[in-house]
Amino acid sequence: MNACPTEAPPVPVSAPIAFHKLVKDSHVHGSLYTDPAIWNAELRQIWGRTWVYVGHESEVPNANDYVMKSIGPEPVIMTRGRDGRVHLLHNRCPHRGNRVCMTEQGNARSFTCPYHGWTFANDGALKGWPFPSGYEGVDRSELGLGRVARVDSYRGFVFGSLAAEGPSLQEHLGAAMRSIDALCETSPEGEVEITAGFLKHKVRANWKFLVENETDGYHPSFVHASIFEVAQSGIGSLYSAESTAVSRDFGNGHTENDLRPEFRKRDQPLSWFGTTADKLPEYVAKMNAAYGEEKARRILIDGTPHIMIFPNLFIAEIQIFVIQPVAVDETIQHVTALQFKGAPDLNRRLRQQTMGSVGPAGFLLADDAEMYERTQMGVQMRNPEWLFLGRGKHRERRDEDGFLIGDNTDEVPSRGIWRHYRALMEAA
Ligand code: FES
Repeated sequence: MNACPTEAPPVPVSAPIAFHKLVKDSHVHGSLYTDPAIWNAELRQIWGRTWVYVGHESEVPNANDYVMKSIGPEPVIMTRGRDGRVHLLHNRCPHRGNRVCMTEQGNARSFTCPYHGWTFANDGALKGWPFPSGYEGVDRSELGLGRVARVDSYRGFVFGSLAAEGPSLQEHLGAAMRSIDALCETSPEGEVEITAGFLKHKVRANWKFLVENETDGYHPSFVHASIFEVAQSGIGSLYSAESTAVSRDFGNGHTENDLRPEFRKRDQPLSWFGTTADKLPEYVAKMNAAYGEEKARRILIDGTPHIMIFPNLFIAEIQIFVIQPVAVDETIQHVTALQFKGAPDLNRRLRQQTMGSVGPAGFLLADDAEMYERTQMGVQMRNPEWLFLGRGKHRERRDEDGFLIGDNTDEVPSRGIWRHYRALMEAA
């Protein structure tokens, strides 16, 4: 006898939302950030369907390691099974729905639900239940933890999709894979490690404000002016009207600020990191040995990418941010310093810079958070109803690969994000 019903219950039907009336080429309607019905539709059409970044394989390096993650607001457990494979499991007991795992991370062959003691292997299979005589004739194989429908990874970055069918991860990432490749090449061993631990920042704002802001090259000169001044950083000039850096829409909602033109003008290895090669001799020597001096020099001049991979992974040169929506007006950002395998001296500085910029006393994220929350309050008002995203529309152009680009302060990325958003929300 199967204990699990084979037919899904009927889903309540509500009137479709006319997204073509809310998302225009250079305008979006304020209700997109505030309407609970739109939030519910996003859970179904975006977080319930597309590929979502979950975690990195280096967070579960050993057999039986696990770490708590999420897909949208839903908690999932990322585990490494005894066979070395990475699994994504829904953190919900199939008996009465309790959470089976409450600790952030650890090493365990199994999880025991605290409510009635059912025990699950770390690949999700139900291993046993107390007082088994009460379950005579029940098929245990039907009662494991839910598994995320599709799991795939690219260069250690693990993604999950709650939909059994859809584009492959490689199709979803498209050109963003090149940015991940470039990121990995910053390591002399070609690998990123996520081992520095996460800071969590909660903001009272809709998740899309964060996605848009990550590659909005217009705001840094104003919102981040104080940290640029205090740190005497040259970063501000990358986001000036004179900057030769470009904003780019990769399609599929992925966008970037490509800062390489400015770094190439400077022609100074490690200027993207605010330092010079003589400060990191061990790292530079390893890079030269790994890639040859010419290629290593190019890698060290170009620096790491600044790319927002839709819908929730922001690679921000020296950190990654993972955007987790928890309510229509509440979002958590998980941030950690990037660490590069085989580069301990670089990694130490990456951790220090991350604490300084986005740690509890850092200015960078606090300034952004203030803007998110003020904007969320603003869009509650309906006069005017629309937000204008037309900056640089007249000078949008195609690069040699056919991607739309604009000046670094232009709103090419925001328009690209909304085009993809609308396509997802209108998909059958
Ligand atoms: Fe988990 Fe009952 S809810 S064992």
